[in-house]
Amino acid sequence: MRFRNDEFIRTLDPDIFSHGRLLRRFPGSDACRFSAKVALNLLERVDDRPRGSRPRILWDPFCGAGMIPCVALAAFPGKFDVVVASDINGEAVACALGNLNIVCDSAAFAARRAQIHKSRGMNQGMDRRGAIIEAYMAELEPILMTNPATVTIGALRGDAFRLPAVSGDVHFVADLPHENQSQLLGGPLSELLPSLRSAFPDATATFVTTRDAVEQLCHSTPGVQLRDLAHGRVVVRL
Ligand SMILES: C[S@@+](CC[C@H](N)C(=O)[O-])C[C@H]1O[C@@H](n2cnc3c(N)ncnc32)[C@H](O)[C@@H]1O
Repeated sequence: MRFRNDEFIRTLDPDIFSHGRLLRRFPGSDACRFSAKVALNLLERVDDRPRGSRPRILWDPFCGAGMIPCVALAAFPGKFDVVVASDINGEAVACALGNLNIVCDSAAFAARRAQIHKSRGMNQGMDRRGAIIEAYMAELEPILMTNPATVTIGALRGDAFRLPAVSGDVHFVADLPHENQSQLLGGPLSELLPSLRSAFPDATATFVTTRDAVEQLCHSTPGVQLRDLAHGRVVVRL
């Protein structure tokens, strides 16, 4: 089993492998577009060494359009047995599920390509952009579809403060809502890590947040590690 799809990583163009371009978007998703390169950086560092025979579960509980789980499937096939995308917004969940299918199901990939081809007739700008996306998809197709990951995919609508129990080694990876992009619903930020810790005591968590939000997020949770990213963002690891 390959754990890294190096060809995908080499070929990755984050301006095209993005929602609203190769991937689908939903109303509001443009405000919190997440970079595939940052997703790669986060996923690479997840310590997925098996702690027994339980399935390794990657779970993005704030999935939006699903960039993090999509990159997990495309770049790290076999690193996780199960990939779960959840969000409090049902439109986000439907969009993320569509995007997960695009990266690992050849019929969904072909349907997206056909949709982009059709959109090219709308105006000159769409034609230019569509041509670039189509050319990139032609390059990616053999890289993604020759040995698609045999991973179980799950997508569900859910509040991150009240996630359902699962059996397996859970690794949460997410881009948290930021004040100027999207709002955290369901509870205060200060309660997020304690509530995940109490429901999933063995889970790891890797969350991107803003420097301003770190103190609120971490103040009552010991053992948190911080790493700076560009643009005032911080990775919080538990
Ligand atoms: C910054 S966006 C995530 C963007 C995502 N990485 C992407 O690729 O599109 C944050 C998401 O958190 C969701 N959200 C806000 N509060 C939530 C909660 N309590 N539980 C689950 N999702 C929540 C929003 O609906 C939004 O989609």
